[in-house]
Amino acid sequence: MISEFHTVQPSASFKEVKSIVIDQKQRVLPVIDQKGNTVGVITRTDLIQHLGVADRASSSPEKPAQLFERSLSALMESRLPKDILSLLKELGELAQSLNLSIYLVGGSVRDLITLKPIKDLDLTLTGDMDEFIKAFALKHPTARVKNHPRFKTATIDLDNGFRLDLSCARLEYYEYPGAMPIVRHASIRIDLQRRDFTINAMALSLNSEDYGRLLDFYRGYHDLKEGLIRVLHSLSFIEDPTRAFRAIRFENRLGFTVSRMTERLLETALKNGFITNLSSRRVMAEIRRVCEEEEPGPILKRLGELGLLKCVHPKLRIIPKQIERFRRVARIKDWYRLTFGEKFSPVWLVWLLVLTDELEEEELADLVENLDSGQKVARVAIEERKTLKSILRQYQRIREFIKPSEADRIFSDLSWPGILYLMAMSSGDPLSRAGASYLTYYRLVKTNCDGKDLIKLGYHPGPRLHEALIFLREAKLDGLVNTLSEELALAQELLKSGDSDGFDKNDVLRETVDGRR
Ligand code: CTP
Repeated sequence: MISEFHTVQPSASFKEVKSIVIDQKQRVLPVIDQKGNTVGVITRTDLIQHLGVADRASSSPEKPAQLFERSLSALMESRLPKDILSLLKELGELAQSLNLSIYLVGGSVRDLITLKPIKDLDLTLTGDMDEFIKAFALKHPTARVKNHPRFKTATIDLDNGFRLDLSCARLEYYEYPGAMPIVRHASIRIDLQRRDFTINAMALSLNSEDYGRLLDFYRGYHDLKEGLIRVLHSLSFIEDPTRAFRAIRFENRLGFTVSRMTERLLETALKNGFITNLSSRRVMAEIRRVCEEEEPGPILKRLGELGLLKCVHPKLRIIPKQIERFRRVARIKDWYRLTFGEKFSPVWLVWLLVLTDELEEEELADLVENLDSGQKVARVAIEERKTLKSILRQYQRIREFIKPSEADRIFSDLSWPGILYLMAMSSGDPLSRAGASYLTYYRLVKTNCDGKDLIKLGYHPGPRLHEALIFLREAKLDGLVNTLSEELALAQELLKSGDSDGFDKNDVLRETVDGRR
């Protein structure tokens, strides 16, 4: 029961009602006339019906769900790596011994059935989660546990790199408009019912008594086989507009199709401004996830076609030359992965830079401000944007090979995403090749001699020496000197030439090259 709530008059506008029922999540809105009499109530379902979309999306929460069950234990045995399998069994046995139920849920079940690698383990417990975590921590004293009792969620990071995302089966509701969700225990069915798509709303029991039993109340297994993305009910996108982006992301990642009804619901939500309402922080989190996908290009294109990119920024759209650029980023990404592996991948930021290429600097800065993580990297790239654009302008028409020393000067102060962006924007051109050579080779080149060697020869530390060392490295990059003795000879030549203001590099180089000929 709540004692503080909004009411409206019979003359209230749709916008006013929408703001209370959807944005502030007050599910039931009393309508009071001028005399103070309650003349009716408006619910969320009324709103969606008013928008003209029938509730045929799927089984609605009101309708009893039809449980589909089957055993996936053979699939688990054949598909999951041994260490994950034994961990899942251990979790099930522990839950069983504490008289709790534990399930693998959401994306993990989807990935298991579609034979995709499982990254994180999403688990849902029904029962006392604290008791379970304490017992688990006793068995794994080095595991790092982060408990969020208020939300009844916890993460456990194990030494072998696995992360367990635990939550308590729950039903979210709001104590009063705008309040944090109060989390209550609820059965696994109700927990699954609040999820985004049928394919993400299945649970796999891990308890030893029914280990491997799939619980599917919403035809998720069927939709996985049919290749369909379907919401569980018609208010899904209104409840959580980020799902619009998720639908398109999964569609592309899995090679599925958004069902016709779900697409209609998405379009209705978009047309009625529910998605524009989304906070920039949440939109940007989704855009980052899109950019981290295997193939962001087609997803971004489809987001553009549906009009969803406008919810990120009104000026954001996909123009034909963008499509070609996306293809180039994809090639750069493949090259990057082959060359450097997965260790540090700033490639998602390159997608973002190419996507937002036509935005003004301040517009992009506003967007990036809303990125939760990776802000540092993002800022570097934003601050670099002017430099990147001017490099592109300067080198776009150059057809000749760029000397290694010049490439080193162009790229050495830039961030990796910045360099990859330049490579994508100038793909096939000398600038792009120079970028690749810089990342794989030039940046690692060191001279054989250093400042100490030169001081030993009697030269004094100072700017002249510093400049000579830089010059030596450039000469080495360009293949003019190779061995220690060649370097020392060049250094001596450099430092004896010119007056105290500096030396004429060209003169010295000419002499060195002539000498070597
Ligand atoms: N979920 C949801 N609505 C959202 C986000 C998530 O219902 N807006 C639910 C889905 O059941 C999802 C689960 O929470 O499967 C876990 O969310 P998340 O980790 O974001 O998604 P995954 O499905 O695991 O996708 P990914 O493989 O991209 O991590």
